[in-house]
Amino acid sequence: MGSVMSIPRDKGYDHTLGLLKETYHFISNRCRRHASDMFETRLMFRKVICMTGEEAAKVFYRPGRFTRKGAMPPTTLRLLQDKGSVQTLDGEAHRHRKEMFMSLMTPESIERLTQITADAWRARAARWERGGEVVLLSEVQEILCRAVCRWVGLELSEEDADGRAREFASMIDGAGSVGPRNWMGMVRRSRTERWIRGAIDAIRGGRLAVDEASAAHAVAWHRELDGELLSTKVAAVELINLLRPTVAVAQYVMFAGLALHEHPECAERLRRNGDDYREWFVQEVRRFYPFFPFVGGRVREAFDWRGHHFEEGAWVLLDFHGTNHDPRVWDEPNQFRPERFAAWNQSPYNFIPQGGGDYYEGHRCPGEWITIELLKTAVEQLTSAMQYRVPEQDLRINMKRMPAMVRSRFVIDSVRRVGAAVEIGQK
Ligand code: HEM
Repeated sequence: MGSVMSIPRDKGYDHTLGLLKETYHFISNRCRRHASDMFETRLMFRKVICMTGEEAAKVFYRPGRFTRKGAMPPTTLRLLQDKGSVQTLDGEAHRHRKEMFMSLMTPESIERLTQITADAWRARAARWERGGEVVLLSEVQEILCRAVCRWVGLELSEEDADGRAREFASMIDGAGSVGPRNWMGMVRRSRTERWIRGAIDAIRGGRLAVDEASAAHAVAWHRELDGELLSTKVAAVELINLLRPTVAVAQYVMFAGLALHEHPECAERLRRNGDDYREWFVQEVRRFYPFFPFVGGRVREAFDWRGHHFEEGAWVLLDFHGTNHDPRVWDEPNQFRPERFAAWNQSPYNFIPQGGGDYYEGHRCPGEWITIELLKTAVEQLTSAMQYRVPEQDLRINMKRMPAMVRSRFVIDSVRRVGAAVEIGQK
């Protein structure tokens, strides 16, 4: 067993303010200062070990080692995952529930979602063409909300779509904060919950017919290991766990818009080149831009790493943003360079915007493939299906908030659809 002294420690009593100030760089800054991949500090008056880099991710994502229970601030948990969700489960119960999520991620199913989404883009772009400013973040939230609701099997009326999109957006936006932004998320979340619980009951009661291959059907009729259906409440939580994060992909689309604007040579290559470059571009968007700064876990089974004893129950944060910018893996990590993915070794531990390790054995995001494909759809729409202008605006990224934001939410205007490219998009 290693000595507890082997791990560097932040001096001082509590560093929550430091975290709020340094946000995405909190862990990597301090690791650099301590010349170590891990250090101990205090956040919200609790002792926590922060870790960064590929080796730390291997330790963190070893199956069975960490639980997500009690590992996130409760306000965030309520908005993002909630009680009884797959993220709060461990071991066999987790594996069984995760299987349900993964079964929805077949290539055919994802293809159906991207088709629906491309249709929703085209319909929305026709409205943009009528003039005025288009705030890309909120417009894409609305596109994705409409598309994902249809994909899971719930039809939204024209009037409902905007309101529902705002509800999901507000849950995403409030998750990293305390105070009004968080409360707003909570209020809107209860509205969404009422709607989805009603839908689950209606499916089970035969009052709402959904396709047997749909996600709503899968969640409503999913059986736990003991053969029981999920409670209405938990079923709603899991259906929301498909809807909300799909709407959150709009965050990356906003950043993709910014990247296309700031790197016109990338936009040019995207118009000319085939699928490989589009994939690299999308991956670079997920590597480069900030979204989830880190994830928390609590030790389930004690272990030793690099001379430190991690005791059961210890709270640990794994640095996502810093790992995705680690200069030991990523050459000139603060440059936006899609080509770097041509040479990426595909390690499940060095590129972890949505978690790492194995999808089935651990908590890695089951929506990663959806995220990648929806981003490709967005990039195709932005580069080949339309032309637009990027007017004067504040394009700085506010990294002081989580999730980080382009200050203007990325505004475009003078939108014109490109006829020929629309044809390509429809094939
Ligand atoms: C917007 C892009 C997304 C980001 C940045 C993201 C990020 C994450 C992260 C960081 C985790 C936690 C990983 C961990 O605990 O180790 C996670 C888990 C999860 N995500 Fe995503 N996600 C995204 C999109 C999606 C989508 C599109 C879906 C579903 C359609 C989804 C569904 C889930 C679920 C159900 C979990 C819990 C998995 C588990 O505990 O086993 N996410 N996501």
